[in-house]
Amino acid sequence: MVIYFSATGNTKFVAERLAELLEDEACDLCPRIRGNDFSQIDCGKTLVVCSPVHISGLPKFLSDYLKRVSFSGPTVAYGVLTDGGYAGIAGHQLKKILEKKGMRFGGFAEFVLPGIHITSITSRKIGVEEIERRIRATSERLPEVARAMRAGETLAGKRTLLPEVALTEALMPGLRFVGLRTRKFWASDQCVSCGLCERVCPVVAITMRDGRPTWNMSHCAHCMACIHNCPKEAIEYGDVTKGKRRYTFARYRYAAQSGGN
Ligand SMILES: Cc1cc2nc3c(=O)[nH]c(=O)nc-3n(C[C@H](O)[C@H](O)[C@H](O)COP(=O)(O)O)c2cc1C
Ligand code: SF4
Ligand code: SF4
Repeated sequence: MVIYFSATGNTKFVAERLAELLEDEACDLCPRIRGNDFSQIDCGKTLVVCSPVHISGLPKFLSDYLKRVSFSGPTVAYGVLTDGGYAGIAGHQLKKILEKKGMRFGGFAEFVLPGIHITSITSRKIGVEEIERRIRATSERLPEVARAMRAGETLAGKRTLLPEVALTEALMPGLRFVGLRTRKFWASDQCVSCGLCERVCPVVAITMRDGRPTWNMSHCAHCMACIHNCPKEAIEYGDVTKGKRRYTFARYRYAAQSGGN
C-alpha cells in the first residue's frame, strides 16, 4: 500500500506512479485526516509513506496522524519525500514513527520537485524550464526506486546527523508559531464561491461564510493546497503572494511523460 498527502500534486504524482510500478494501491490520506478517521489501513507486506517536506520535517498533521493510525500487514516500510531541495529531518522522523509501530524501516527516497511555499518571504522563484527538469528527473528515477523496493533493498536517503535533529526539533515549535499564522489569508473579488479551498484543507481551517472562505483557526499547516488549487487564484497571503505564480503538478504533467514512462 502506498499512502500519501499532497497539496499541489507533487507527492500525489510520485505516490500514484510508485503504486503503478509496484502493482499496488495508492491511498490519499487527506479525507482520513480531515475526518479524524484512524481506522486500520489494510496493507500488503510493504507500506510506502509519501509526504512533502514542511519546514525541514514532516507536516505536523501528517506525523500526528501516522502516530495514531494502525496498519495491518506490513513488515517493512519505506519513506518517500518530495521537497524543494532540503529534506531536513523528515526521513529521521518517518523512521522513528514507523519503527515504533514494529515495522522494519527500509530507508527513504527524496525527490526534488518545484517548491510551493509561496507564503514564505524566502521562497525562491524557479522558471518553467527548471520545473520541467525536476519533474522529468523524478519521473526517470521512479522505476529504479520501485525496483529497489520490490527487491527489499535499503534506500539510502540523506543522512541525518544528531545535531541537525536536535537543532531542528528545538526551533520547530517557534518556526511553526510564527510562520503558520492564518490571519493574513484573504480572498479577493475574483472568488466565485466554489468552496474548493474549504474541501482541500487537510486541517479543516477554512469555513465558507457568505460565499467567501474564512480562516477559522489562528494557525494552520500552510500546506498551500487552498492557495494553489483555487481556480480563480483568488487567495492571497497579505501582499507576499501577490504576483507569484500559482502551481499545480497537473499543469506540468506533460513533463513527466517525456521521461521514465
Ligand atoms: C509549509 C511548507 C514548508 C516547506 N518546507 C520545505 C523545506 O523545509 N524544504 C524543502 O526543500 N521544501 C519545502 N517545502 C516545499 C515542498 O516540500 C515541496 O514543494 C513539495 O513537493 C510539495 O508537495 P505537495 O504538492 O505534494 O504537497 C515546503 C512547502 C510548504 C508548503
Ligand atoms: S477556491 Fe477560490 S474561488 Fe473557490 S471558494 Fe475558494 S477562494 Fe473562492
Ligand atoms: S488553510 Fe490553506 S494553507 Fe492552511 S492548511 Fe488549509 S489548505 Fe493548507
